[in-house]
Amino acid sequence: MNIALVGYGKMGHMIEVEAVKRGVGIASTIDLYAQDASCRIKSSDDLAGAVIASKADAVIEFTHPDAVLKNIEVLVTTGVPVIVGTTGWLKHLDYVNTLVKKNNSCLFYAANYSIGVNLFYKIVKEAGILFSQYDEYDTAIWEAHHTQKADSPSGTALDIAKHLMSVCPKKTEIVTDAFHEAPKAHELHVSSTRFGSEPGTHTVFFDSKADTIELTHRARSREGFAVGAVRAAQWMVEQLTSQNISMGNLYTMENML
Ligand SMILES: NC(=O)c1ccc[n+]([C@@H]2O[C@H](COP(=O)([O-])OP(=O)(O)OC[C@H]3O[C@@H](n4cnc5c(N)ncnc54)[C@H](O)[C@@H]3O)[C@@H](O)[C@H]2O)c1
Repeated sequence: MNIALVGYGKMGHMIEVEAVKRGVGIASTIDLYAQDASCRIKSSDDLAGAVIASKADAVIEFTHPDAVLKNIEVLVTTGVPVIVGTTGWLKHLDYVNTLVKKNNSCLFYAANYSIGVNLFYKIVKEAGILFSQYDEYDTAIWEAHHTQKADSPSGTALDIAKHLMSVCPKKTEIVTDAFHEAPKAHELHVSSTRFGSEPGTHTVFFDSKADTIELTHRARSREGFAVGAVRAAQWMVEQLTSQNISMGNLYTMENML
């Protein structure tokens, strides 16, 4: 199996290493700017030709929140299964779903490809079920990332918030800005910090007058994201071949795990 990488930055390089370790070939590394990419394109419009020419079995996209939607629009026309890692576009999910169906494409997306984070979601949900039974406990989410991260809060923090809200009926609104007045009980605060090279920390707090319980996932490196993205590409190709999944659909880590 061979994959094309769109975006040959920090994640693109890491995915290449993890793919090769797993016996997955790199058909092409495609980038607008990276000097070491095997295929330099002038704009996203050139992507379809580059991916088709590579004869890749799947294409993995890790670029930039400003570029991802346009890249998706182009990639879904290629007939090659698409795995999207770039975050910051989920507000357009309905539109992307329509595009995938219209083009009979197949797109896998995750705000976080780490297996640990996806198991963390399940732990948070269980904790939410327990704490939501007791009125004295409030909850909040905090995340930290390196200074080059372009979107805030992280897609992962928003996913955690959604999982938590699905089991905590008291919390009905996510607030990501700073509060300039006392927060209301139904507001779930999701706050962000950007500093240094921090690869990604997410903490969920359950707090009462008597105590605080903190659940933290701390990424040590980008390796976990890269391994998950390669696994997602392998899963898509295997499942399509064995007809367990079909073109025209969106898939997520919940389908894979
Ligand atoms: N889902 C996850 O698990 C996960 C994990 C880590 C990072 N991310 C996200 O992935 C994205 C990329 O992260 P990174 O650390 O590799 O960033 P990076 O800045 O190191 O690399 C991005 C690369 O994309 C290239 N690029 C930008 N626009 C492009 C376009 N239109 N076409 C082709 N290439 C283009 C840039 O030249 C650069 O080489 C970010 O949005 C980040 O938040 C997601």
